Amino acid sequence: MKANVSRNGTRVGITGVGVYVPERVLTNADLERMVDTSDEWITDRTGIKERRIAAEDEAASDMAIPAARQALEQAGVDPGDLDMVIVATSTPDMLFPTTSTIVAKQLGADRAAAYDLLAACSGFIYGLAQAYGAVSSGVSGKALVVGSEALSKIVNWEDRGTCILFGDGAGAVVVESVDDGGFLGFELGADGSGGGDLCIAGGGSRHPATQQTVADELHLIQMKGQEVFRFATRVMVASAANLLEECDATVDDVDLYVPHQANKRIIDHAAKNLGLPPEKIFLNIHRYGNTSAASIPIGLAEAVAEGALTPGKRVLMSAVGGGFTWGSAYMTWSNGRA
Ligand code: ACO
Repeated sequence: MKANVSRNGTRVGITGVGVYVPERVLTNADLERMVDTSDEWITDRTGIKERRIAAEDEAASDMAIPAARQALEQAGVDPGDLDMVIVATSTPDMLFPTTSTIVAKQLGADRAAAYDLLAACSGFIYGLAQAYGAVSSGVSGKALVVGSEALSKIVNWEDRGTCILFGDGAGAVVVESVDDGGFLGFELGADGSGGGDLCIAGGGSRHPATQQTVADELHLIQMKGQEVFRFATRVMVASAANLLEECDATVDDVDLYVPHQANKRIIDHAAKNLGLPPEKIFLNIHRYGNTSAASIPIGLAEAVAEGALTPGKRVLMSAVGGGFTWGSAYMTWSNGRA
């Protein structure tokens, strides 16, 4: 969908970004001592060198809050002026109350509607699209979109095929009206036929938690890596290409590509097939691994901090995740609020 900036004359963009990652670093050398793997295998197959691991008492909301505070401060927005708080996560503090209500309360966002969004690794892009829709239609004035994940809590630390991939962290953005730039389009999609390829089968209403579901490890991530890899490589390219076409743009118009950091090989494949040169690709997977819904907002915050994302630059984001779900967003970085 092309973002309709002109329907009511409203441009909508991002005015602040924030990031938080836990202190503890787990390196590939550490993993060598935990499962039968090697730094060389992990680096070659994924591009990951280390990832952050949340403390025992650190949940998704604990990471979301500092990231959100940073984004609000950068935007110059008072939490009390937020109308909407969306937390995209597959690892909420608990099923309910939602992580977003905990975050809103702690921030002092007393006027905001708050809800969690579960679209796995695509959750942040879905959240951006919803915030865009709410602000451009006038339903909301200012929205906070957070991606926060404590994946280390749901990883099977004995499964070398998955435990090497994931990390913890949070990223946040403030979405509101802007004078210049803003969102140009979104492309979202889902295909449930691959649902079983990446899932946590237990703990929901299909298989409520019992001693048996725990013994069967249904509360932990199960993944068919090659199937996910095949789907992700295809859809990362198709989603981004379709969106650019819809926006009458080409890869030459893109200044920065901030892809979901799932696997460097998936990113390299997407970049090559889209025709994006390495200098336009934002990468931090070597430091954080796959942080699912947090990966793109962490990337945006770091790109701003490094000076790679400045007003006027056109940024393309794409993600693929469990479900399967996917999403891309295309925007011009703004100077600030309208
Ligand atoms: N260390 C050493 N060897 C390993 C490890 C490991 N950590 N993990 C698997 N192996 C072995 C396998 O057992 C297999 O051995 P075998 O040939 O003797 O049976 C061999 O390595 C090859 O295994 P594959 O699964 O074929 O390895 P592949 O090259 O596909 O890489 C990986 C596996 C990294 C999981 C890859 O499939 C992948 O990245 N898939 C996408 C997963 C993903 O990104 N998921 C995130 C969520 S969705 C998203 O964000 C896109």
